[in-house]
Amino acid sequence: MIYITRRENFNSAHKLSRPEWSDEKNVEVFGKCANTNWHGHNFNLFVTVKGIPSAETGFVIDLKVLSSIIKENIIEKLDHKNLNLDVDFMKGIMPSTENLAIKIWDELEPLLKVHDCQLHSIRLHETENNSVEYFGQ
Ligand code: NI
Repeated sequence: MIYITRRENFNSAHKLSRPEWSDEKNVEVFGKCANTNWHGHNFNLFVTVKGIPSAETGFVIDLKVLSSIIKENIIEKLDHKNLNLDVDFMKGIMPSTENLAIKIWDELEPLLKVHDCQLHSIRLHETENNSVEYFGQ
């Protein structure tokens, strides 16, 4: 089994807040991410898949194919969008980096199965210092 990773980038706006909480409590819990009029992050997404290299090509998956799957199904939906308002698979979900990584997994996992490889992890960097990693459970 070998693991390969494709990196993609996107920029999105969001706001972390609970409408039933006071402004003070939202700021206390979510800090700058509670800003009323939104703010943005430059996200770096690392998608790792695993499998056995093909006897013919030596590839687990053609990285051009992997990149296209990620771009068409994830990046086009997230890039320059508002995670609270614009993204079908984030509707009704607190748009934290944790939840975004889980939902990206849920979108990609079935699409990669048909390519004879398995999704291994979603690593999502919200800032240089903050990132999350999800392995499907
Ligand atoms: Ni934020």
